[in-house]
Amino acid sequence: MTPTRVLTGITTSGTPHLGNYAGAIRPAVAASRTPGVESFYFLADYHALIKVTDPVRVQRSTLEIAATWLACGLDPSTVWFYRQSDIPEIPELTWLLTCVAGKGLLNRAHAYKAAVDKNRESGEDDDAGISAGLFMYPVLMAADILIFNANKVPVGRDQIQHIEMARDFGQRFNHLYGEHFTLPEAAIETQVATLPGLDGRKMSKSYDNTIPLFAPRATLKKLIAGIVTDSRAPGEAKDADASNVFQLYQAFASAEEAAAMRQAFADGIGWGDAKNALFERLDAEIAPQRERYEALMAKPAEIEAILRDGAQRLRARYATPTLQRLREAVGLRNLSQVAVSTADAGDDDAPVAPTFKQYREADGRFYFKLLRGERVLLQSAGFDGGRDAGQWVARLKRDGGDGLREAGGVLHVDGAAIGALGDGVALAEVVDALAKFAEDAA
Ligand code: TRP
Repeated sequence: MTPTRVLTGITTSGTPHLGNYAGAIRPAVAASRTPGVESFYFLADYHALIKVTDPVRVQRSTLEIAATWLACGLDPSTVWFYRQSDIPEIPELTWLLTCVAGKGLLNRAHAYKAAVDKNRESGEDDDAGISAGLFMYPVLMAADILIFNANKVPVGRDQIQHIEMARDFGQRFNHLYGEHFTLPEAAIETQVATLPGLDGRKMSKSYDNTIPLFAPRATLKKLIAGIVTDSRAPGEAKDADASNVFQLYQAFASAEEAAAMRQAFADGIGWGDAKNALFERLDAEIAPQRERYEALMAKPAEIEAILRDGAQRLRARYATPTLQRLREAVGLRNLSQVAVSTADAGDDDAPVAPTFKQYREADGRFYFKLLRGERVLLQSAGFDGGRDAGQWVARLKRDGGDGLREAGGVLHVDGAAIGALGDGVALAEVVDALAKFAEDAA
């Protein structure tokens, strides 16, 4: 059985924080060990360019995110781990998909629409300050997914629409050019924790309320001490469910530890002690990974080599042959293999030999065609019996076009109308093709 392909992209526009860890990295690394799954993890650095125009930040973020995933246990010898911009076939496919993507569908993308709405609110032009990159974001993302025929894409709810668009583009391409793409499904992790940030809102880069995953111990301690709480004094009962300190603790604790902490809250643990307990618990989980992270960050060339190796193997195995097939499918083809269609079709060096095809149509009658490659030179009339059609084919092959007459595109042999010339075909081409059969028979 072919394994299920699971693919995840991480935009390289920031520093991984605890929310990323609990919500995405930890579950993804665990899932990467599932048997029967072929996993793809990549750094979406082309996507980063849509939001970040500081090159140093893009580079830094790419390094930090790569080191983070490796430190957290992703094993590049059992999963595909690569950088988007190391696979030139991805932007190449992006263009092929761009040409089938509906502009109207892209107009309805949430991220683009939100940007337009913001402009309208402030009385600006609809598209003021919006790059074509932001507009095309879903097409690039579709290329990421479709190029490897991923079956499942674990994403947050905000990304579901992008997966639906990838299906739409893939489907349109398949409809036009044949079944090339598997249509992906979004895998929504319902269990996944969203963590509160320092200010109690969801931990997010955009709120500037994050705790960096691998902040040094001292920094981590200071940040946790700064988490916003209410002003209840030690000894006063506290509501665990309303507390971001408790929610953070719970995301890193066993069920028993969480139950004990809940009791401590009810018993009036002071905020200082609760934050200390959170710090110790967090640090216990993160310290080993932080040590690996720091070792990796000290050797960026090793990370570079790991990423390049992943991309190189992945291109050879899938991306390059896939794009070869797709180019062929859309007509970006080797010209030396073109079906010759000009008046000199009968030249001795014509690359494609003529052939007859016999078949029966839905009307129950029997037909034949004379073809050169895909070009129809002669389309027969319908005959009542397969034998009648077969006898005409045999006779045309034997006589090499002798006795063949044309009037108004209709072909006659000995006064019998046997069919018609193909579109734009001259009688000479048919006679020429038939001559080949006669020659071969002689
Ligand atoms: N858009 C995703 C995000 O911001 C990142 C991403 C890019 C991605 N390409 C992808 C995710 C392909 C899954 C599959 O989270």
